Amino acid sequence: MSNREITKNSQARMIRSWMLGLHATYITDIGGRLGYFAEMRRRGGTVSAKELAETLELDPWRTKVWCQAACAVGILQADGDTRFAFAPFMDVLLGDEAPELQTAHVLASLARDFPAYPEAFRTGALKTFHDHDEDFFHHQGKVSALRAPVVVAAARKLPGMEERLGAGGRVMDIGSGSGTVLVRFAEEFARCRVTGIEPLPYFAETSRTLLQEKGFSDRVEVRSVGGEALSFEHEFDLITMVQVFHELPDAKKIDVLHGCQRSLKPGGILLLVDRCAPETGADLHDRRFTLSILEQWFEVTWGNIVNTRSEILAMLHDTGFTVTQENPDIVPTYWTFVAEKQDAGIKRSDI
Ligand SMILES: C[S@@+](CC[C@H](N)C(=O)[O-])C[C@H]1O[C@@H](n2cnc3c(N)ncnc32)[C@H](O)[C@@H]1O
Repeated sequence: MSNREITKNSQARMIRSWMLGLHATYITDIGGRLGYFAEMRRRGGTVSAKELAETLELDPWRTKVWCQAACAVGILQADGDTRFAFAPFMDVLLGDEAPELQTAHVLASLARDFPAYPEAFRTGALKTFHDHDEDFFHHQGKVSALRAPVVVAAARKLPGMEERLGAGGRVMDIGSGSGTVLVRFAEEFARCRVTGIEPLPYFAETSRTLLQEKGFSDRVEVRSVGGEALSFEHEFDLITMVQVFHELPDAKKIDVLHGCQRSLKPGGILLLVDRCAPETGADLHDRRFTLSILEQWFEVTWGNIVNTRSEILAMLHDTGFTVTQENPDIVPTYWTFVAEKQDAGIKRSDI
């Protein structure tokens, strides 16, 4: 925590900055959805509201109000009295595929859950991941695509994995979402075979289309089942499960880990990447936990439980895995657990 003196005024400023942030997030989201940022870039970065509105066939006065609001929160800046330009670096940070813009879209989409919170806190009503809409899935898929290279790079560094996958080994990605991890493995390892496990029809279908477009349908498949229904026996060198463990029904987490044990070849590795809930009061103020805590907050009505690091370690141990590495830095803001299936299914502690 900062050492700056905390006063009533500084706390009030903090509250006002959150409220400004709420507006700024929506101004960003709507600027992206209406194509304002893309059109500004197309015109070299400066534009009048009239030009923007005419090209995009939008209301000119409302467009001017958006431009002024974008200036007020620091996204744009005035260029004379009637023209607007990007504030420094905003043209790049708010590019079509930029993480900042995509995250604003996901947040704005997620925020549609909040009006139902007061009632849901009284009744315990659920709205699961799968109950969300295609707008949310689409933007969520774009944000997670940004993680795919990091996940495959982490897998490559696992002992012996580069050789195994290079020689035609098999990878399974559980909760494969938009399919970008599947594609990345196929691109980086020309001979490896990849299986995605994805129960959500929207993701299963869009990822199959992506695989077809990329020409990988012969060695990458997507199965439309949940991780509870794995039916493999000693077949995979590597299983990845990225931001999925907390999505599994709590009572099924152990079953899924048992299924991973059965599916892996001896010496195979489960790479589990997920959020970790705080274990102590001090963790609540540790920045490494901030996004995990907020993830549990915006998923509190989804039925998801974000486990603590100790809980995940215990479940991995109880299902026969040996955790050879755990690291909060490999995939930023997530914990990465490297869990190995022992040769002949014998736990190291038993040897
Ligand atoms: C937050 S997304 C993560 C997607 C992807 N792994 C990534 O990193 O982008 C969670 C994924 O878990 C999937 N999922 C939810 N319940 C599941 C289950 N029981 N078994 C397997 N996947 C599940 C969802 O459909 C979704 O694709």
